[in-house]
Amino acid sequence: MEVVIAADSTSGGSLAGQAISDLLQARPDAVLGLATGSSPAPVYDDLVTRFHAGTLSMARARAFLLDEYVGLAPDHPQSYRSVIERAVVSRLDFRPGSVSGPDGRAGDLLAACARYDASIAAAGGIDLQLLGIGSDGHIGFNEPVSSLGSRTRLKTLTNRTRRDNARFFDGDIDAVPVHVITQGVGTIGEARHLVLVAWGAEKAAAVAACVEGPVTAMFPASALQLHPHATVVIDEGAASGLRLADYFRETWAAKPKWQGL
Ligand code: F6R
Repeated sequence: MEVVIAADSTSGGSLAGQAISDLLQARPDAVLGLATGSSPAPVYDDLVTRFHAGTLSMARARAFLLDEYVGLAPDHPQSYRSVIERAVVSRLDFRPGSVSGPDGRAGDLLAACARYDASIAAAGGIDLQLLGIGSDGHIGFNEPVSSLGSRTRLKTLTNRTRRDNARFFDGDIDAVPVHVITQGVGTIGEARHLVLVAWGAEKAAAVAACVEGPVTAMFPASALQLHPHATVVIDEGAASGLRLADYFRETWAAKPKWQGL
């Protein structure tokens, strides 16, 4: 696992954006995994800047969402389909139909989960998966004790996650759906490159447990330690709980820049 401590979320977002840009240079038809929530925003802003500068295009790329609330209409402003449409799709040049998400309104939700994993596999798998981290250690919506081998499936959110996400629903926890569809920890682990981003001291404890804690289903983000190419990009606040922060700064400073993330 590589840990990169950026000066702030803007420069961290730009590092992750550079990794996506490098991937698209090498493979214009790359398959991206998109996360929602507030953490990826600086990455998406960076991609938009590169697109306007003419150095990045999503015209041949495809993308898959990590997760979706169950029961929200696709055009509900907080459905992850809508959030990604506003934050990413409408600001870049994705082809219509090239961005897919789990169907949280399917009549048969279990079949929709299986179909989703099959569609990721049919696309050749995800080249680069962007991730945020929940305060309880979730990635996607894999809450504590999610199997580290889990596939895309139906999950129940913890009250803590619903409280954390109430800020997107005018502070009303009761408006936050209880159920979600999420890519499993095992599904996420099949992506060829995982890039987890986190900003601010409120993420420090979660980042420390993810990077330096034991690998445990109690903290699903710790599964990144098992991945052959996992990168954690954080700012100084999110790095403030790391015992090896100085080592991570030294290794990044010494890394040849041509290597990228
Ligand atoms: C979102 C997702 C979640 C978030 C996590 C952090 O698609 O899968 O795991 O990444 O809840 O959310 P923020 O970034 O809002 O702190």
